[in-house]
Amino acid sequence: MPQDHNNKRNSKDTKDDMIHLIDNLNRDDDLKYNRRAFLKSAVGASITLGLATLPFSAIALNREEDDTNRKMITRLKDLPKDSSMNFNYPTDDEPAILVHTKEGKLKAYNNKCTHLQCPVFYEKEESVLLCPCHRGFFSVDNGQPLAGPPQRELPLIELEVKDGAVYAVGRKVRHGE
Ligand code: FES
Repeated sequence: MPQDHNNKRNSKDTKDDMIHLIDNLNRDDDLKYNRRAFLKSAVGASITLGLATLPFSAIALNREEDDTNRKMITRLKDLPKDSSMNFNYPTDDEPAILVHTKEGKLKAYNNKCTHLQCPVFYEKEESVLLCPCHRGFFSVDNGQPLAGPPQRELPLIELEVKDGAVYAVGRKVRHGE
């Protein structure tokens, strides 16, 4: 009799176990499907976001193009070696400096010092760009700060020489390059 009882109990337990097992399997399936659904919606959301931001990327690109207005600065013969001149670029409110170095290279930068915005000048003696406000020095070759308080480089103005004229054709605002 006690054995019978045990058998029944065992058989009941076995059924319960089966039900739990099936439950667990169903839960596993649910989890799998939920994960799949989540991944699908995450991918969908990423694509949607990407597409939604496309117009903004296009605007940003256009801004960059707007920044690359071509503007004649001077005739090369009017700017002898080891001299400089000021101009404005890309807008009339943004002062810039063009240097014709001793070696005959042309270099141009926006000339607001990156410390506190004083104008920067070409210093012939040392072939550097000097900000007299707090004696900040920048390299003529790449606009990087060399000494003094400035920590960031001057924005580089890209140049092109065509038919004896020097043009500003773009600007690169570099940060820590
Ligand atoms: S403003 Fe140029 S060094 Fe301070």
